[in-house]
Amino acid sequence: MSGAAENGGTAGGDGTGARTGAAGGRARTAIVTGGASGIGRAVCRELSRRGVHVVAADLDEAGAERTAKEFGCASAGLDVTDARAVRELVERVRRERGRLDFVFNNAGIAVGGTADELTLDHWDRTIDVNLRGVVHGVHAAYPIMLEQGHGHIVNTASLAGLTPAPLMLPYTATKHAVVGLSLALRAEARAHGVRVSVVCPGFTDTPLLDHANPGLPQTATGSGARESATRTMGRLYSVDALAADIMRGVARNRALIVAPASGRLAWRGVRLSPSAAVRVAALAVRRLRG
Ligand SMILES: NC(=O)c1ccc[n+]([C@@H]2O[C@H](COP(=O)([O-])OP(=O)(O)OC[C@H]3O[C@@H](n4cnc5c(N)ncnc54)[C@H](O)[C@@H]3O)[C@@H](O)[C@H]2O)c1
Repeated sequence: MSGAAENGGTAGGDGTGARTGAAGGRARTAIVTGGASGIGRAVCRELSRRGVHVVAADLDEAGAERTAKEFGCASAGLDVTDARAVRELVERVRRERGRLDFVFNNAGIAVGGTADELTLDHWDRTIDVNLRGVVHGVHAAYPIMLEQGHGHIVNTASLAGLTPAPLMLPYTATKHAVVGLSLALRAEARAHGVRVSVVCPGFTDTPLLDHANPGLPQTATGSGARESATRTMGRLYSVDALAADIMRGVARNRALIVAPASGRLAWRGVRLSPSAAVRVAALAVRRLRG
């Protein structure tokens, strides 16, 4: 871990409601995976602004350091697929800070393609990062939060975790799993004072859309992810607006943080009629494939 600049403590009282707490008079402490880029980076910024001591953790260690330098937090190189590394980081932060208030299991990859062209490598890699990465974070942090009697786990899923999102089956499957994991854990954790939320954003303007299928065979859908997302959404959601939604949702201890409004509408459509939602998704496939 590097760049451990400490944040002063008292917070503005908005967003996460973060304030200097009782534990050794230290500022609340958060780990944000995927903190080098996009949504994770914006979450690091917002938490830092609120006086939370943040550790930006990422496979892209240099990127995490840049986040740390920019927003006055700490950074760590971390591969979330490595269970032991995740546990070591979580335990180290708790030991050094004396508390662990938030863990944002946010790191993820985009994987796209038609069902017939995606290989088992696409599936395995997506499951490793998007699902196991979250499992590792939960498995390491939850016992610590139970022992503390408080803490908030915030997992990033996707609107694809609530809807039948086609042309990215492994992604959709892992994000549905993260939603299920998070809601079920929330039910277990409630009696112990531990909070669990899950973030389900629609297409958001981050670098994720420019490097789909990282280290994997490329597909037409993967290489055109930004264009497809823009055609589907009309306009991509801004990462700053999403970070504000996340801060508000976390402060209010929402089970699900779904944004933007068009995403909430799509989710409502799925609940009203799953088969109609599949028909709409099939139309979108036809439109995207020309
Ligand atoms: N951008 C979108 O449209 C969108 C929509 C819904 C959900 N999401 C989800 O939001 C999360 C953040 O995505 P983003 O849009 O900010 O993407 P991004 O590519 O900008 O950031 C993702 C970060 O995760 C890191 N990462 C990837 N694999 C890792 C690993 N094995 N260990 C540690 N770090 C790793 C990357 O280095 C990167 O810094 C992801 O879980 C993504 O699935 C994104």
